[in-house]
Amino acid sequence: MDKFVIEGGRHLYGSVRAASAKNAVLPIFAASVLTEEPVTIREVPAISDALCMAQILRELGADVRFHDGDVTIDSADAHSHAISCALTKELRSSVFMLGSLLTRFHRARIAYPGGCDIGLRPIDLHLNALKRLGVDIAERDGYILCSCDKLRGAEILLDFPSVGATENILLASVKAEGKTVLQGAAKEPEIVDLQNFLNAMGAKVAGAGTDAITIEGVRKLHGTVYLPQKDRIEAGTFLIAGAICGGEVEVCGVRAENISSLLHKLRENGCKIHVKNDKIKLESFGRLKCNRRIETMPFPGFPTDLQAQATALNCTCDGGALVVENLFETRFKYVPELQKMGADVEVKGRNAFVRGVPKLHGASVVAGDLRGGAALVLAALGAEGRSEVLDLSHIDRGYSDLQSKLKNLGAEIKRVRV
Ligand code: EPZ
Repeated sequence: MDKFVIEGGRHLYGSVRAASAKNAVLPIFAASVLTEEPVTIREVPAISDALCMAQILRELGADVRFHDGDVTIDSADAHSHAISCALTKELRSSVFMLGSLLTRFHRARIAYPGGCDIGLRPIDLHLNALKRLGVDIAERDGYILCSCDKLRGAEILLDFPSVGATENILLASVKAEGKTVLQGAAKEPEIVDLQNFLNAMGAKVAGAGTDAITIEGVRKLHGTVYLPQKDRIEAGTFLIAGAICGGEVEVCGVRAENISSLLHKLRENGCKIHVKNDKIKLESFGRLKCNRRIETMPFPGFPTDLQAQATALNCTCDGGALVVENLFETRFKYVPELQKMGADVEVKGRNAFVRGVPKLHGASVVAGDLRGGAALVLAALGAEGRSEVLDLSHIDRGYSDLQSKLKNLGAEIKRVRV
């Protein structure tokens, strides 16, 4: 197991290019089994969630090869519709394989993904939508067994704009008989990427990015080469690092409108933000002000995946902030670790009350989930003295080579084997 050793207090200066978006790459991997022709996904980040998804595809019989940062997936020989319990538990995103496997094999079996570190994460919206498309679903011994004689287009209304359920519906309806109209869809930019990938394979999907998506079923999909969009959450994480540490940080490759809610909050803190094409530059000098209120919402609202990082920022701003986590039940588990560094945060259910303190101090802290772990790294970068962030396995799920990117910005951080 590795840890980060961080000497805090360094200002950050420089530019960093975001990797391809984890939350675009994962559903695109799932979509690769919709064709028996090879697909190549460009610039796939070296993150463990992508490696795990590759393992899932190999378990199904696909050939998955990583080469020079790209991944070529050839699922011509894929023969299985069942994903092992271990791999499903390892990766929540395996749930979108349901849609792909049903389209490919008219059958699918996955272990119930279950809850994890940030909440219960039920999949009722996924399953109800699949039933609308003609799928029979049984749940037995912790497994979900899906089957259909054919997938039929349908009118589907999501009670909540679930990202995963929206993606599963696209994957299950692209080759269904007839037309599917999805209302109440999630509008995240990663869904637009999935639509673009599917259409590059010959699908007929329209409306992604809005709450109404139509899918005309087609008979066949073909291979393609595709470059996913860059990771807006990774970019936001680096911008918040710049805000916490002070200095000038530029992130490249991400469209400002895809993180406009974060940019609005950073300006509220007192940071200067300059946008030019796909470059977003943040300047942070002097003491910042707390964001009185941050409320996570589905896109285009404030992203839940940046909640922990923004909370860490507010810990050393002037005044107080209320952070409301509306998407997941228990996404404040990182707070006790921030408190070890001197943060003044009180959590009550879905609310965290932050009171700004002059400085945090270094401490030994444990990363318990992906974004909470990233928040601890950012807090340590701004703290006085030395910190250690233990258990990097969670951070490795969504950030590739985090320490090198931070070091290139001037941070004093190293990764050591424990
Ligand atoms: C995706 O998760 C992302 N993961 C998450 O990113 C992200 O936080 C989330 O969307 C919200 O933006 C990937 O794309 C791989 P949801 P997903 O379905 O699809 C409830 C990260 O850190 N819900 O939009 O699981 C659910 O409990 C990860 O990169 C149901 O009730 O999110 C939650 O409260 C974490 N029933 C809310 O909806 C369902 O059937 C949002 O979930 C499905 C979801």
